[in-house]
Amino acid sequence: MGRARKVVLAYSGGVDTSVCIPYLKKEYGVEEVIAFAADLGQGDELDAIKKKAISAGASQSLVGNLVMPFIKDFAFPAIRSNALYQGKYPLSTALARPLIARKLVEIARELNADGVAHGCTGKGNDQVRFDVTIAALAPDLKLLTPAREWGMSREETIAYGEKYGIVPPVSKKNPYSIDLNLLGRSIEAGPLEDPYVMPSEEVFGITSSFSNAPDEPELVEISFENGNPVAINGEGLDPVSIIKKANIISGKHGFGRLDIIEDRVVGIKSREIYETPGLLLLIKAHQEIESLTLPADLLSTKFRIERQWAELVYQGFWFSPLKEALDAFINNSQKQVNGTVKIRLFKGNADVVGRQSIKNSLYISDMSTYGREDKFQHKSAEGFIYVWGLPSRIWSWINK
Ligand code: ARG
Repeated sequence: MGRARKVVLAYSGGVDTSVCIPYLKKEYGVEEVIAFAADLGQGDELDAIKKKAISAGASQSLVGNLVMPFIKDFAFPAIRSNALYQGKYPLSTALARPLIARKLVEIARELNADGVAHGCTGKGNDQVRFDVTIAALAPDLKLLTPAREWGMSREETIAYGEKYGIVPPVSKKNPYSIDLNLLGRSIEAGPLEDPYVMPSEEVFGITSSFSNAPDEPELVEISFENGNPVAINGEGLDPVSIIKKANIISGKHGFGRLDIIEDRVVGIKSREIYETPGLLLLIKAHQEIESLTLPADLLSTKFRIERQWAELVYQGFWFSPLKEALDAFINNSQKQVNGTVKIRLFKGNADVVGRQSIKNSLYISDMSTYGREDKFQHKSAEGFIYVWGLPSRIWSWINK
C-alpha cells in the first residue's frame, strides 16, 4: 500500500491511541500525525485530550463536537428502525463509529492527508466499523491500524508510551473496558468475562440500582412526529435535549440496563453490559406508537427489516447500498407515526400504560368495542371465514 505521509488519527486520549502517535511516526514512517477527538457527549475534558495528543507528538490536535449529528443523523434513524441487535442491544457504541470515520475522511480531505488511522485492536467490532466505513467513503486513503499489528501487551504498550512521554493511566487499576457517549455506556472485561458472574454495582454509572431507584413510580409521556421523538411530558425538545432528558428520567428509575451475550462480527461471543436508559425508553415508546398507527402488514414487514437494519449497522455497513435501501423503506413508513405514549417507570421497569394519536390512530373504538356502539358487521365474519379457511377444508376433504 505504500507509506502514508500525513495521517489523521481517531484519538480518544487513552493509552492505546496515544501510543499510536509515536508508533505511527517511528514504525510506519509517518511524517505528520493529526489527532482528532470526537465529542459525542461522553463528558470528557477535551482540552486536556487535545494537549495530550500534542505532547505525544501530534502535529495538530483537533476536537469536534459531533453530538448533534450523532443524535439527529445516527440515533434518530435507529429509533425509527427500533434497532436492537440480536433483539437486544440498541447499538449505542456502534452508531458512533461511522460518524467518527466519516469525520476522519473529511479532515483528511481538508488537510490533504493521504491516510487515516485508528487504535482499535483486532478482536472487536469497532475496527470493522472504522475500516468498512473508510473503505466505503474513501477507498483511496491509506488505512493504518497500529494497535492491531503491534502485538504488545498492555504493560508493553504503557512502557512504549513512557519512552515518548505518555503518562500511564493514574487511576487505580480499573479492570473494565468502558465506552461512553450520550447514548449510553458499554462495559466489558475484568470479572465480567465470566458470563456467570453477576455484575457488581460498581460497573454501572448512569443508571440507578434497584434499591437506589425511587420508591414511587413516575409517568412519562413521549411524543413523536414522523417517527421522531419530539417532546417529553409535553415539552418540545431538540434531538440532543430529548436524549439527555430521557437518560435522566429513565436512568433515575434504573431502566435500560442490559447484561447479554453478544455475537461479534469476528466470530467471538462476548459478555456485554450496557446502560442505555434514554435510547431504550425512546425505542420502546416508538414501537408502541407504531403499533397504534401502522397497519398489521406494514408492521410485520418492518419488523423483519428492522432486524436486518440493526445487523448491518452492527457489522459496519452504515454506508452501504442495502442500508440505504432499507432506510428508504423505514423513512417512508414513518409519515403516519405521530402521537404520544405514556410509560410508567418504576424500579428498573418501563411499562407502557397508554398511547394516543389524534391524527393517525387506526384504533377505532366502534370496531373494537363489545358495547352497544359496535359497528363491526358480525354477520360478514361467517362468509369471510369460509373463504379464509377454504384451503384447510379442502386439504381435509382430500387427505383425512
Ligand atoms: N460490543 C459493543 C459493540 O460492538 C460495545 C463495545 C464497546 N467497547 C468497549 N470498550 N466496552 O458495539
